Amino acid sequence: MFSKGFISLCCYLVLPLFICNVSAQQITWSQHIAPIIHRNCTPCHRQGEAAPFSLLTYEEVAKRASFIKRVTENHYMPPWKPDPHYVGFANERKLSDEEIRLIGEWAEHGMPRGESTEKAAPAFVSGTLFNREPDLVLRMKSSYVLKGDNVERFIVYKLPFELPDSVAVEAIEFTSNNKKVIHHANYEIDDVPDADLYNTADYVDNTESHLDYYQQYVSYRKMMKYFGGWIPGSSYESYPEDMGWVMPKRGVVLLTVHYAPVGKDEEVISGVQFFFKKKPVKRFIKATTYGSGGVGEKDIEPFFYIPANVEKSFKLNVKIPETQSLMYVWPHMHLLGKTFKAYAVTPEKDTIRLVSIPQWDFNWQEVYWFPKLIKIPKGTVLTIEGTYDNTVNNASNPSFPPQLVYGAMRTKDEMMTMIMMTIPYEKGDEETEIKRK
Ligand code: HEC
Repeated sequence: MFSKGFISLCCYLVLPLFICNVSAQQITWSQHIAPIIHRNCTPCHRQGEAAPFSLLTYEEVAKRASFIKRVTENHYMPPWKPDPHYVGFANERKLSDEEIRLIGEWAEHGMPRGESTEKAAPAFVSGTLFNREPDLVLRMKSSYVLKGDNVERFIVYKLPFELPDSVAVEAIEFTSNNKKVIHHANYEIDDVPDADLYNTADYVDNTESHLDYYQQYVSYRKMMKYFGGWIPGSSYESYPEDMGWVMPKRGVVLLTVHYAPVGKDEEVISGVQFFFKKKPVKRFIKATTYGSGGVGEKDIEPFFYIPANVEKSFKLNVKIPETQSLMYVWPHMHLLGKTFKAYAVTPEKDTIRLVSIPQWDFNWQEVYWFPKLIKIPKGTVLTIEGTYDNTVNNASNPSFPPQLVYGAMRTKDEMMTMIMMTIPYEKGDEETEIKRK
């Protein structure tokens, strides 16, 4: 390691551009690095969350310093897939150039610790990314053993609940002890004022036939209050201010878990947890699916199939029937996805950019939050464009050699989908910043 004198000599003589803002010797864990890591990395890199190791303490970070330098310099971490130059989002994960520089130099100069760090470590609530204790935790009644027979499965779990009263929801979060075997999960929240919540099956296998599902759960599906989901890489969904939806007093969550094929038995306990808020909901959120599995599915052009050994692009145009304010967009493709873009053109021919993902990655999907509500006038044409790579050049291609692929839900099939979360438009929406906690 260099002496302080040597570093300041360098500042005068040879390296003034590189290390003289904060000279490398002065970059310490406690003063510079811990705040960057705790804000940008620890939410995922801690016990019980998605990342494979914890980055909380000095020891945990220092021993991986050169690895961390590499993944931050090449922008692999923190993970963020949309092109920030196309449109920016409120939940963007990003380090500034200065933060990347500080990490790199700290790693190169022996990772000085600085003063005692204990006071700097923030409090993280375990088991949630929303970072407060959930008000209602619903889980599968018992753990589910996923057979290691390489079969892809769709299982629907019933999670009944009874509350003292209906209540406004601030956030909803999917939980699982074993996210790596899950391709995606969907949940619907049903209001069930009278039917028996308990005399039906705890779960049904929906892989081959939907008959059991209908027979068991048909009585629950009359008043759906909300639906949402989880895809690899995504976190919770939250609703600011007086926006959102109301959890009924009594009902069920029907949680559909789509399991990837696995080669050995795996044990899974999943569920959905809820965070409530005092502020009453005045503006109700609606989630609408566009493209595969939703509005306009039949209008994707050309007809949605991808022959083996080709790259192919598709486009969907859909007219929006009523004026609305857009809060979130949630793009979705599977493993052949290469690029995804969505925009909307108003009747006045203004283009509203919605999202662009130049290098689609199935493992990093997210619901993207706009900093302000976006007015989508009646008659606006929404356009979704997707490109798929069904060649051997695509390292994520699930089939070798590549196979002909159609539009459907299984991992080896493909989708071109975007869910839009909207509320009915009110005057002035597009001018107000959304306040989030
Ligand atoms: C949204 C959650 C999330 C955030 C935020 C996040 N990580 Fe990660 N990180 C992961 C997951 C999940 C993996 C394992 C999967 C992978 O390697 O792609 C991972 C992997 C890594 C790896 C190993 C990469 C490899 O090739 O094996 C390093 C190093 C890392 N993260 C460092 C960081 C640092 C440093 C930050 C903050 C600047 C950060 N991560 C922020 C979720 C996250």
